[in-house]
Amino acid sequence: MTEQSPGLDNLLNEVRTFPPSTDFAAQANAKPELYDEADADREQFWAKQAERLDWDTPWTQVLDWTDAPFAKWFVGGKLNVAYNCVDRHVDSGHGDQVAIHWVGEPGDTRDITYAQLKDEVSKTANALLSLGAKAGDVVAIQLQMIPEAIFAMLACARLGVLHNVVFGGFSPHALRARVDDAAAKIIITSDGQYRRGKAAPMKANVDEALEGAETVEKVIVVRRTGSDLEGEVSWTEGRDLWWHELVGGQSAEHTPEAFDAEHPLFILYTSGTTGKPKGILHTSGGYLTQAAYTHHNVFDHKAGEDVYWCTADVGWITGHSYIVYGPLANRATQVVYEGTPNTPHEGRHWEIIQKYKVSIYYTAPTLIRTFMKWGAEIPEKYDLTSLRVLGSVGEPINPEAWIWYREHIGAGKAPIVDTWWQTETGAIMISPLPGVTSTKPGSAQRALPGISAKVVGDDAKEVGNGGGGLLVLDKPWPSMLRGIWGDNDRYRETYWSRFADQGFYFAGDGAKYDADGDIWLLGRVDDVMNVSGHRISTTEVESALVSHPTVAEAAVVGAADATTGQGIVAFVILRGNAGASASGEEAVQALRNHVAKEIGPIAKPRQILIVQELPKTRSGKIMRRLLRDVAENRQVGDVTTLADSSVMDLISAGLNSGKSED
Ligand code: PRX
Repeated sequence: MTEQSPGLDNLLNEVRTFPPSTDFAAQANAKPELYDEADADREQFWAKQAERLDWDTPWTQVLDWTDAPFAKWFVGGKLNVAYNCVDRHVDSGHGDQVAIHWVGEPGDTRDITYAQLKDEVSKTANALLSLGAKAGDVVAIQLQMIPEAIFAMLACARLGVLHNVVFGGFSPHALRARVDDAAAKIIITSDGQYRRGKAAPMKANVDEALEGAETVEKVIVVRRTGSDLEGEVSWTEGRDLWWHELVGGQSAEHTPEAFDAEHPLFILYTSGTTGKPKGILHTSGGYLTQAAYTHHNVFDHKAGEDVYWCTADVGWITGHSYIVYGPLANRATQVVYEGTPNTPHEGRHWEIIQKYKVSIYYTAPTLIRTFMKWGAEIPEKYDLTSLRVLGSVGEPINPEAWIWYREHIGAGKAPIVDTWWQTETGAIMISPLPGVTSTKPGSAQRALPGISAKVVGDDAKEVGNGGGGLLVLDKPWPSMLRGIWGDNDRYRETYWSRFADQGFYFAGDGAKYDADGDIWLLGRVDDVMNVSGHRISTTEVESALVSHPTVAEAAVVGAADATTGQGIVAFVILRGNAGASASGEEAVQALRNHVAKEIGPIAKPRQILIVQELPKTRSGKIMRRLLRDVAENRQVGDVTTLADSSVMDLISAGLNSGKSED
């Protein structure tokens, strides 16, 4: 289980360091003392961070860990999360500050002030109330990057309704699984979305997903593409409602109610090591505290001065914590962009940064590598001098991409914060502090003040400097997940069983300490792939493949990929009667499309190899390590535990004939 991607080992040969400039350090929100303060009294430290929020009722206890691994933070405290992200900024006289500079893919824009945001969120909350939504209910949201996605999330938060945001690229099948598991009563979607210059349907996806669904009573539809979308948007009378009619007619007055610090805020599904996605549950007070604290310190954000842009999608945790909750709690002015980075041209992001004078930019390594491929001459055409902090998230960033990012985007001086965290951790856990840390290309470096992380061996003992092992979090943190929706056993089993005696949370990642004790993340050590920063489980793709009538058996591995971090490579045995006619390119294409239909285009295998056998141990377990060797064009490793050692020769020989890429 502790196999790591060997390509990452060379990360550790990196020796360059980049201290912050004295000017940057002098003005930074986080100073070196922050570590000492947190070490001196962790709970007191977190209490101080929580005080940056507005509480209706103060807490009586910072942390209750007696029911571990189910944490309670800020026990007895009450707050309204949406009030903290919106109303309080209006109340403090900043109603005219722009909260969101929204940029539509076709070029339309909207600037939304905090006062307008308050009105929109209140109207949306009133609309949900008019449909009978109440605290504790679940509303599913499948929307592209339009302001209504943010209004909807905050309206839920305002009412104590849990949102369950489903990434727009997920198939009807994947959406349905997430709607059913969470028993969502309402879904919010759009008629269509602009993607790569074209209007593509969204509601049709939801309609297909909802066939026979039992819990959903209402579907609210934002009109985005209107007449640009070919064909009629189908309509179910009594169930479907246009957003502009329903929300447009509501009052902008709504008084937020305070909820318990542990009131559930949202569920967000993520891939696990089985085929069934896990509904990660986050609650209110601790989550918002850490999202706001990290956004303030890791990005050195200054309210009213910075223009911040996180390029994630609201369908992922990064969008939840670093587009919606963290930045808005901190009264950020931020850019939200609807489209793809190369529509209508490959300089789109730089054009937006130049126009809005973006000063903090947070993106994923896969996109940085894509920009590298497109060429440094593209960003060079734009004025990027406003940029002062750059962030990276989602996967290990290779030193080459890190240096390119610093040189070509950050003018050789903007500090880069490589932030490690997960859907489960809710907020950033390991990262440099931009005014404190001498950054190292490729390393997330050390746990933030107030957070404790360790690299341990299988024996749970911390490894020494220079040593590698598994990353664990050995102390509870405010924004930690509070469970897997409806499945406490799975929660314990997935995260807390590996080091049950020590009470460590096992993150699923391999890591190393360098000679200075800095942490280098080395990728997942379980059956979870990371493709362009998206988590996809091998089992999920395998189940999709075997659900196709021609497939008898399938094994899926994540293979190193220069752009996407990992690419999905599938080894498939066809059913006897399908073999003759379907072994060619057509069969492979059909299978790739089938996976896209079952899960979504992000899960489409990069490569599918049709094979006669799969390498299995005598007990029948597929040896993915060997398949990964093949997929990464390496000499195949030790085959002595295989039931039939000639299998690997056959597979290697077939590698070039059965290949399919696009
Ligand atoms: O393997 C780690 C990788 O992404 C996983 C979490 O994925 P997800 O829950 O989708 O959240 C992504 C955005 C927070 C982790 O287990 N990962 C995330 N950030 C980094 C990373 N790997 C290396 N370096 C990072 N900075």
